[in-house]
Amino acid sequence: MGTKRNFRIWRGDADGGELTDYAVEVNEGEVVLDVIHRLQATDAPDLACRWNCKAGKCGSCSMEINGMPKLGCMTRMSTFEEDETVTVTPLRTFPVIRDLVTDVSFNYEKARETPAFAPPADLAPGDYRMQQVDVERSQEFRKCIECFLCQNVCHVIRDHDENKPAFSGPRYFIRAAELDMHPLDAKTDRKEYAQSEQGLGFCNITKCCTEVCPEHIKITDNGIIPMKERVVDRRYDPLVWLGSKIFRRGQVPQTSVTSEHSPGAVRSNAAGGGLHSHAGGSHDPAAETQAQQGVNWHREVPHPTAPAVDASGKLPLTELTFDRAAAPSPFGDDVTFPLPPEHLNFAHPDQDQKH
Ligand code: SF4
Ligand code: SF4
Ligand code: FES
Repeated sequence: MGTKRNFRIWRGDADGGELTDYAVEVNEGEVVLDVIHRLQATDAPDLACRWNCKAGKCGSCSMEINGMPKLGCMTRMSTFEEDETVTVTPLRTFPVIRDLVTDVSFNYEKARETPAFAPPADLAPGDYRMQQVDVERSQEFRKCIECFLCQNVCHVIRDHDENKPAFSGPRYFIRAAELDMHPLDAKTDRKEYAQSEQGLGFCNITKCCTEVCPEHIKITDNGIIPMKERVVDRRYDPLVWLGSKIFRRGQVPQTSVTSEHSPGAVRSNAAGGGLHSHAGGSHDPAAETQAQQGVNWHREVPHPTAPAVDASGKLPLTELTFDRAAAPSPFGDDVTFPLPPEHLNFAHPDQDQKH
């Protein structure tokens, strides 16, 4: 039998809420997520909380515990004093849906805007070679579990919603850094892109993102600072500047993002009409509004089919048939974003029931 401990949990939704006090049993070895599950089983069955793995690997259970962004499943109750009241609140940077669940779609918008890995077009799959040292350099960044704690803690957007359109955040700076270090990535403008399109210039290296990362990724020291240094090298070295003017190298093509968000520019979200994707070339406001209204449960969707195996019962090695292995979009090259609702392929178990 455990002991009763005091908790204050934020309860509410987008219209407002308040901290509610609970006394919950806590047993040896438990983490904060265990306590939330016990609360759901006892005093607060309608308490909303997002989680999946309970092993620090899915990045779903991000929350603020005593004001510190943390994973609920990785925060041991033994780290608090016996008589301490533990306060649990939702991530502050993202809009609350309900209780501890926030709408983190800002991050997926930014992921979609980040250009994918692009190997050289003439490189056949069997010719891919990387030195171990190159693998190790970017391996650190690939540990990211997309918990968005770093995005949540970053002051550039934490209290400044208006910066969100022009700032991708630390999670996507390390994605740019990782691809910039990749010897097979044919795009040579990753750091320039980070500066002009992702808002790297907003970051003033406070290192808060590094401090909260549960994967201990050195976001600032190994990702952001080296990229900033190389941007400075390229932009302010007089010889490099002169060479780029003469040979017209290292120039990022101007896109809608560049022209709308020049470095350091702040644009009001209200003027932009909320979240807006720049990827995929779709800028149809009607389609975007429709997509943001949610899923159309009544649309026709293909029913699950068996895997496309060949006569010997094996999956085809489709990668060998691509002209650019690993490069094509997983959605298909003819797909643009945002997808219209009737094309969303999420199949709800009750979708066949007419409401
Ligand atoms: S170091 Fe930069 S990206 Fe990280 S929290 Fe600070 S301002 Fe944000
Ligand atoms: S970099 Fe770290 S804190 Fe940021 S999303 Fe990835 S795992 Fe989470
Ligand atoms: S539940 Fe998966 S990281 Fe916490």
